[in-house]
Amino acid sequence: MRFILIFIILIVQVYADKDSYNRGEMLFFANACSSCHGPSAEGSSSYPRLANKKRVFLKKKLLDFRAGKASSVSQQMMAQFAKKLSDKDIDDLTFFLSTHKKVDVGDVDDDILGGFGS
Ligand code: HEC
Repeated sequence: MRFILIFIILIVQVYADKDSYNRGEMLFFANACSSCHGPSAEGSSSYPRLANKKRVFLKKKLLDFRAGKASSVSQQMMAQFAKKLSDKDIDDLTFFLSTHKKVDVGDVDDDILGGFGS
């Protein structure tokens, strides 16, 4: 009986994580995070990579930005975006980013990429 219960809890957890990941991904694009940090959260010269960084670190950063802790122009810019996020948004975004799965262009159907995949 106990095993069945543990099994059910595990299944529910997997679905909850999947929801969190998908919602985080949606928020990442809907809030324009992708326009600075890159579509794969890979970052570029002036914008830090976010993909696969530790969740506690990302969470602390976003909470600080949201609280208005910003000591440079680029941090103030970031704070403007963090202000719009709820606690759940930050939870889901950081879950998505810390467990980010890289989309390999080679795995994507050629038709979707209009022939650029090959
Ligand atoms: C206008 C460009 C811009 C947008 C849009 C933006 N960011 Fe940023 N973000 C930055 C910059 C620049 C920094 C680096 C700030 C600094 O100097 O510490 C940063 C830093 C961060 C950090 C800290 C990372 C680290 O390694 O220090 C996190 C986490 C983050 N952004 C998440 C987000 C999320 C989530 C969104 C969408 C809600 C977002 N950002 C939207 C520009 C942006």
